[in-house]
Amino acid sequence: MREFSFTDSDFERIRTLIHRHAGIALSPAKREMVYGRLARRLRRLKLASFADYLALLERDAHEWEDFVNALTTNYTTFFREAHHFEILKRHLRQRKGHQRIWCAAAATGEEPYSIAISACEAFDTLSPPVEILASDLSTHALAIAEAGVYEADRLHPLTASQRAKFFEPSQGRYAVRPELRRLIRFERINLMDAHWPVKAPLAALFCRNVMIYFDKPTQRRLLERFRPLLLPDGLYFAGHAESILADDLFRPLGQTVYAPLPLGGPPSS
Ligand SMILES: C[S@@+](CC[C@H](N)C(=O)[O-])C[C@H]1O[C@@H](n2cnc3c(N)ncnc32)[C@H](O)[C@@H]1O
Repeated sequence: MREFSFTDSDFERIRTLIHRHAGIALSPAKREMVYGRLARRLRRLKLASFADYLALLERDAHEWEDFVNALTTNYTTFFREAHHFEILKRHLRQRKGHQRIWCAAAATGEEPYSIAISACEAFDTLSPPVEILASDLSTHALAIAEAGVYEADRLHPLTASQRAKFFEPSQGRYAVRPELRRLIRFERINLMDAHWPVKAPLAALFCRNVMIYFDKPTQRRLLERFRPLLLPDGLYFAGHAESILADDLFRPLGQTVYAPLPLGGPPSS
């Protein structure tokens, strides 16, 4: 016996709602995951069934935030797919002037802070000429990102000198130094929204390990919107399992890094 009644139609309704709101396409195999994550909300709200929860969701706009937070997967690490950060450093060093970077699925912050550390290292200063926008749909993940305080074991991918230079001990944990924090603006952005408050053009756009949650038409629409945001020599960084099937929009440079093709498609010759 389950603690809460959870019917096929409850699951279908939840799949429809999260797809419509966040673009997330949950496969039937995610049924137990959905139960486990939302059961916590039912317990907290003292509800007896998923039907009651869905009814509450319909009348209480505030619950949407917790619903979405519960159903997003925020797994990330510092310097995940480390080769991307070496490519970013070379890319930034070659460029002149102020540069904008958007990290479009920043989760709990490890990715934008890795970008900021790379920028500092590229220019050998704590005030490199970059501004980073870090966004995510999950307000829970973003709150952790903004706080920038991590358990020691999260910092394992960093070298000892990176840890010393960019973090300071804080009540048994490690806090991002203000100089690094200052390079990043955090913002809640739903990639499904019609308008994104993103200043372009971008020297680099990181959208890693989130496309896998979207269906192909959604991925395509996002890629169409990403391309004009990038400088002609800007870089798009995708996740390791996200080869981009849009060869009219982006040119692969290897290691899931892409260059935008000129608007109007690839040159004909
Ligand atoms: C698995 S994490 C990836 C984090 C990081 N980019 C990385 O590669 O380590 C996926 C993130 O995408 C976010 N996400 C899911 N749907 C989204 C949407 N529609 N708009 C913006 N972010 C979304 C989730 O909240 C989650 O934090």
